Amino acid sequence: MNVQAQGQGLSLASDLLTGTEWNAAQVRELFRLTADVKAYPDRYKSALAGHFLAMIFEKPSLRTRVTFEVGMASLGGTAIFLDHAEAHLGERESVPDVGRSLSRWVHGIVARVFSQEALETLAAYATVPVVNALSDVYHPCQALCDFFTIEEKFGSASGLKMAYVGDGNNVCHSLMVAGARVGAHVRIATPAGYEPDAKIVAAARRDAAATRGTIELFRAPEEAVSGAQAVYTDVWASMGQESETAARAAIFAPYQVNAKLMSQAASDALFLHCLPAHRGSEVTDEVMESPRSIVFDEAENRLHVQKAILLTLLS
Ligand code: CP
Ligand code: NVA
Repeated sequence: MNVQAQGQGLSLASDLLTGTEWNAAQVRELFRLTADVKAYPDRYKSALAGHFLAMIFEKPSLRTRVTFEVGMASLGGTAIFLDHAEAHLGERESVPDVGRSLSRWVHGIVARVFSQEALETLAAYATVPVVNALSDVYHPCQALCDFFTIEEKFGSASGLKMAYVGDGNNVCHSLMVAGARVGAHVRIATPAGYEPDAKIVAAARRDAAATRGTIELFRAPEEAVSGAQAVYTDVWASMGQESETAARAAIFAPYQVNAKLMSQAASDALFLHCLPAHRGSEVTDEVMESPRSIVFDEAENRLHVQKAILLTLLS
């Protein structure tokens, strides 16, 4: 926030930028609404009639783009896709000017960006809600969907052991944030140098204390996975890190989720992946195709959770 921005459209609206905006009770309320939206979609088919959503995407997307576009249309609203793959945010015009211009026409902004900082600047200047559709630091819509899916399968995520194996990246950060709010035991195994951000770990641990959840870091994947009911992985090189793919493949090889690693988990353990998956790298084809894999239920739930997010922030 800065003085110059005040009175020129500094946001007072609610945003979903990190996932830390919502406390445990608000996440619980979001899940209640998601379950209702999923069970009774027709009840909500005009809920956002006359509403417009701008979608800024600096990176590729299948799930996030389609689920926000389908979600907005199925709530009676209209989504406008803005392809920022060529001209990144802030290049053609300043981020504050983009936020203030869009706010004059649309009721909400969804943005997939390279920089969390740019996203926060956008939100500071926009007068409409801004939703993080993935940044370099967080992927909150994904993690909310993941724990909603886990609760569908297990009844509750409270006290449940989830192992995340791989890179301490945006998805890993958001799983800690969301896991702390649902009271899960999040057990993360990464190679040295690829741990999640220490400040985000510390904040998630503080939040987890209120829900009796825990956040634990491990080096050995077998230790993190031992007895876990949910085993999660993500790509080893995220979008924007393509030049590191070969180097990371060598470092992360012991972190592959394969049948042997899954055998260390609980007997009822399920496998999750945010997708897209690289079979033969972070996960084997065998695990992806096994009855334990719930990756497409997880992908479906992106739609329902994001409809609930749009209803919460835009209506
Ligand atoms: N999981 C996820 O966000 O997928 P997309 O990159 O396809 O949107
Ligand atoms: N960590 C991955 C997630 C993709 C949904 C990336 O940022 O590319």
